[in-house]
Amino acid sequence: MSAEDQKRIAGEAAAQLVRAGMTVGLGTGSTAAWFVKALAARRLDVRGVPTSEATAALARELSIPVVDFDSVGRIDLTVDGADEIGPGLSLIKGGGAALLREKLVWEASDRCVVIADAAKQVVRLGAFALPVEVVAFGHKTTANRICDVLAELEFSQMPRLRTKDGAPVRTDGGNLIYDIACGSIPEPARLADALKSITGVVEHGLFLDLADLAIIGTPDGARQVEP
Ligand code: A5P
Repeated sequence: MSAEDQKRIAGEAAAQLVRAGMTVGLGTGSTAAWFVKALAARRLDVRGVPTSEATAALARELSIPVVDFDSVGRIDLTVDGADEIGPGLSLIKGGGAALLREKLVWEASDRCVVIADAAKQVVRLGAFALPVEVVAFGHKTTANRICDVLAELEFSQMPRLRTKDGAPVRTDGGNLIYDIACGSIPEPARLADALKSITGVVEHGLFLDLADLAIIGTPDGARQVEP
């Protein structure tokens, strides 16, 4: 079974968790897009809080009412993809550069469900390069500070500015992304704290203690994993 089919199975299963009247956080990426499509097909009376401009456009195209994040107090349920799912449902996210809005929406949600194809499940986080969002002003200086912090934690890797077609990738908020090819992250919480302490770092892609449930698409159907 293709990864795309696994993503579709996970997205469709997650759409079944939505009830009429809910405010739903809409994730970003190819897996989350399957969820948005399956949710639209159910034609429930819901409102969506998108985690990116791309997802907002998809939701509008599919006639899911989109509301401003600041106009809702809490979000009932957020469904989103991930780049890696590790032990305890620790996650790496941000491959699609939406990690800041994603984390804001996740943290405002009563329940967060991560959906993925089976290859995303790993025994230890870090094979996928960890995205770190930084402000553009002084970003090379910030990258040097990230290097110092990585060295203190005994990582030898350098952060790499994400580019596309020769130009730096800009997030929806106008920031830049540095990717750190850690290889393996033995203590994700320690790295998360250290990165957050750097002025100029807006957010990082480690989502720890946020996911309540994972739904993994497999040839045998949707498999649920709890933390
Ligand atoms: C977006 O910034 C990311 O966090 C995505 O949710 C993540 O990259 C997963 O994307 P796919 O579902 O496309 O693999």
